[in-house]
Amino acid sequence: LASIRVDISAVDPGTQLTVLWQGKPVFIRARTEEEIAEANAVDLSTLPDGLSQNANLDPAADASDANRALSEDGVWLVQMGVCTHLGCVPLGEQGDFGGWFCPCHGSHYDTAGRIRRGPAPRNLDIPVASFVDDTTIQLG
Ligand code: FES
Repeated sequence: LASIRVDISAVDPGTQLTVLWQGKPVFIRARTEEEIAEANAVDLSTLPDGLSQNANLDPAADASDANRALSEDGVWLVQMGVCTHLGCVPLGEQGDFGGWFCPCHGSHYDTAGRIRRGPAPRNLDIPVASFVDDTTIQLG
């Protein structure tokens, strides 16, 4: 798989960068302290999808916020901008859980990109990703 490098130096907390990778949108978000705290406060047993869906981890890893975030401080969340229902592009900072909302059929994702309500069966997929340095993320 072809990999790309993305400069994240201009992504401020509370904003996201959308890049195209392998023909699909990838959301790279710098989360605020509030967003991280909200994601950590969720009881995992209430999640429709209890798995991390993180290609960087064991497939059995749970959907804790630490298993969703790319950076240890929890700030960086990198995920496919593809609804796991039928593939529409969810909208950021919308929906009932402060994360993403898919307008096609009404799926609500939280601030960790986990499905919380609606027809989508899985959390937003997290692609293979890593930090090259403090301001560069590699996808793939
Ligand atoms: Fe997103 Fe159906 S494609 S809710």
